[in-house]
Amino acid sequence: MAGTYTKKEVNTLKQSVRKKSRDWIFIKRELKHYKKPISIAELGCGTGAIAILSKTLPNIKQYHAIDGSKEVLKFVEIEKIPYVKTKLLDLETAKLPKVDISIAKYLFHHIKNKNHLIDELYKQLPIKGKVIIIDKFPRWKCSILIEKLFHILQIKIVLGEHFYSTEKEFEKLMLTKKFKIIKKQVKFGKKFKNFFMKINYYVFIKKKKRH
Ligand SMILES: C[S@@+](CC[C@H](N)C(=O)[O-])C[C@H]1O[C@@H](n2cnc3c(N)ncnc32)[C@H](O)[C@@H]1O
Repeated sequence: MAGTYTKKEVNTLKQSVRKKSRDWIFIKRELKHYKKPISIAELGCGTGAIAILSKTLPNIKQYHAIDGSKEVLKFVEIEKIPYVKTKLLDLETAKLPKVDISIAKYLFHHIKNKNHLIDELYKQLPIKGKVIIIDKFPRWKCSILIEKLFHILQIKIVLGEHFYSTEKEFEKLMLTKKFKIIKKQVKFGKKFKNFFMKINYYVFIKKKKRH
């Protein structure tokens, strides 16, 4: 479950998010395709950068900003966006609201019980419903060890616990849960602290289950 954050950690989260406009460009491209009004669930929304940026789109009727930390949700609530509703939920165990599209940005590496969350994603979406996932994955086998070492040495601020899976493991899991990749982009970190990780940008769609 997401922990409670200190003020310093919340500020770090806020600042790092604002800088990542590449994430918004990727997400926006997917959202603006929809002609009719859409409902969205953002899982692990943090301080709500995407919910706030969504104001620039004309087609959003409902936005569930979900996180396990009260502190970060306060930043979303302050914005008073009429269609944005915050939800304090533990995504390891929670049931998810039904929506047209779901977003999980830098969430999955915090989730131990990925099976539960992906099953819930499947239930919440219509057939061909989209899930946009942006996350960090180890670039090499040694990456997870190095990340742990950083953690121990406190070289970078690590928010919460990490449960990395490799890109292959994650894609296989999504596939077995009947999600198909329709878009994938991979970016490599340039800064030293991100050098051992890569950032994957995915759009999955929900396939029909054959009984
Ligand atoms: C690395 S932050 C990413 C925040 C935001 N999506 C972004 O891109 O900046 C991960 C977020 O997931 C939330 N989180 C982690 N584990 C969670 C859980 N089990 N249930 C709900 N939220 C969780 C944390 O509270 C945090 O806000």
